[in-house]
Formats: sequence, C-alpha cells, structure tokens
Amino acid sequence: MTWLITGGAGYIGAHVVRALTEAGERAVVYDDLSTGIAERVPDGVPLVVGSTLDGERVARALKDHSVTGVVHLAAKKQVGESVDLPLHYYRENVEGLRVLLQAVTAAAVPSFVFSSSAAVYGMPSAAREGALVTEETPCVPMSPYGETKLAGEWLVRATGRAHGLSTASLRYFNVAGAAAPELADTGVFNLIPMVFEKLTEGVPPRVFGDDYPTPDGTCVRDYIHVADLAEAHVAAARRLAAAPGTDLTLNIGRGEGVSVREMIDRINEVTGHTLAPAVTPRRPGDPPRVVASADRIAAELAWKAKYDVHDMITSAWEGWVRLHPEARRG
Ligand code: WQD
Repeated sequence: MTWLITGGAGYIGAHVVRALTEAGERAVVYDDLSTGIAERVPDGVPLVVGSTLDGERVARALKDHSVTGVVHLAAKKQVGESVDLPLHYYRENVEGLRVLLQAVTAAAVPSFVFSSSAAVYGMPSAAREGALVTEETPCVPMSPYGETKLAGEWLVRATGRAHGLSTASLRYFNVAGAAAPELADTGVFNLIPMVFEKLTEGVPPRVFGDDYPTPDGTCVRDYIHVADLAEAHVAAARRLAAAPGTDLTLNIGRGEGVSVREMIDRINEVTGHTLAPAVTPRRPGDPPRVVASADRIAAELAWKAKYDVHDMITSAWEGWVRLHPEARRG
C-alpha cells in the first residue's frame, strides 16, 4: 500500500508517517508547510508541497505516486482562533476535505482515514454524570473548530457510502508526548507545553479554574501518547485496506482521567521544577471532564495504548529542552 498523508509534516502527521513506514507501508507526505516542518519528513519519503484546496495538485500526487489510501490530517486546529476565524476554518477544514475527497473518488483510491477530535462532543452529557464518553455520546460541538470536524465526519461517511470508499474517523482526545525529541510539538497551545513555557520563564504555571465539580476541582482530560495515536492510524489503515466497505468512527484515548493539578505535579516531578501553580479564572468553554471510552477501538482494531502520562511528559520535555536548553533546571 502507498499512503498519502496530508499534514504529514505536522506534529501528529510526522508520527503517523513514521509508524506507517516502520510497519512496512509506503508513505508520501502532502503538506502546505503552513505549520508543518519539512525536516520532519524522513529521508526516502516524498514530500509534495501543496494545499488540499488545490484539487489538481492532489490529483497529480495521487496519480504520480500510485496512492492506494489517504490519511488526512491537514487542518487548522486552534479552538480559540476558530471562534474568530470561522470562515477560514470552514474553508480549510471542510472545503479542503471536500476538494480532497473529490480527487480521491475520481482516482478511485479505496481507503480514507480522517483525523477527527473529541472536540466533536463539546460539553459531553456523559462527562457531567462522571461516565466515559462513548462514540454514541451525542455530538454537540462548542466551537467552529469542533463543528468543522463533525461536518468532516459526515462528509467522509456520506462520500464513503456513495462511492464505495472505506473510511475511518478517529476522534483524538488530548494528544501529548513525542516518539523522538525532533518530532515533538513545537506549538504552545496545550496544557503540557504551556506549563513547560511558564517553568522555563521561572513563573508559576497556571490552573484555569479549581472550582469544577471534579475530585480536586480542576478539569479532567484523557491524555494519549502521540506514538500510541500513530499506531492506531496504522491499525485503522490496515483494516480499511483489508475490508472494503468499512465505516468506522473511533475514540482514541486511554480511558483514564488526569486532572490539571495532577498533571502539573507530575510535570514538576519529571522536570525537577518546584513552582506551585497559580489558580486563575476558568477559561471559557472548558468542560469539567472529558474521558474516552476506548472499548470500541479495542474491540474493532485490537489496539490499546502502551504509554502512560509519565512517558508523555518525559518525551515532551526532551523535545522541549532541545528547543529551549535554558529550561533545564540547574
Ligand atoms: C487541557 C486542560 C485547560 C493550559 C483542546 C481542544 C481539543 C484538542 C486538544 C485539537 C483544560 C487546562 C491548560 C494551562 C490549564 N484540540 N489548562 N492551564 O482544551 O482539553 O482540548 O486541545 O486539535 O479539541 O479543545 O486541551 O491542553 O488546552 O487544556 O489549566 O496553562 O488544561 O483549562 O482544562 P483541551 P488543553
């Protein structure tokens, strides 16, 4: 199989490329390099620089490389930014997907894996009751970003049914860590890098609210190591290739809740920093608890996470100090 990985020069995409090639699959990266980094693409893996909005370029890449499956990760992914720039998010994430699918169906490529998000659930009702979020939990996205991912799932499924395309939508929970320091996330948009940044500056990390209805009052999330997430893509890709007509929607999480306060304590342990966090007001729109049920992916793909929160923090920290050597204590 030859897989075209859109967004393959991004943080998660580069991990998917590595996992697929290590599993013996051929990979071709398609990335507009707006946030992707060309150096993340390994030697021997072709890089086509282009936007998924450019249908002709996509069509040529599918043909030139005899692509037999697509893993689509290229997207805009900042929740706050999506509130200010909804037109941009719908264009990049929904129109970009539509143009890509048009080329995929025209070329009769049989398999399509779509990068979705727990953001499709919004403020999940299950979370309020302390239960795990299953794929049956109603989807009520709370941001234009989450809306584009849910609309994307609908478009992928409808196209799959109409054109005989095997599809999987993978709903990522909170992705963290790195398989190697040079593959680490360079963005500072999520809890772990935001805490690292504060520690590096020598100021207390922030807890956005400690009056939530959770055991320690801080928000609870389901953190998943990016290397485990990448392996889930390999399992999904192989299933689609082996079973035409597949239509999967799967959570990718560990089923274990970790609070913001616990996470900051663990980060201090790993990094040797000792700054106590500062509690600030709640960040608008944060659900108290979002923890996946990972039962369906275990049953469907026999996939299970191997790494824990300690592995995520340790590997993310190695990537961070590579770029910020001053962060190392002492
Ligand atoms: C985690 C928790 C914060 C920073 C978002 C998107 C989701 C997905 C992943 C996709 C929250 C708290 C954070 C800080 C804090 N994106 N926090 N202090 O919001 O669960 O999910 O990223 O592509 O769609 O919504 O992740 O890492 O921003 O926050 O207290 O300095 O940490 O309030 O409770 P979130 P996050």
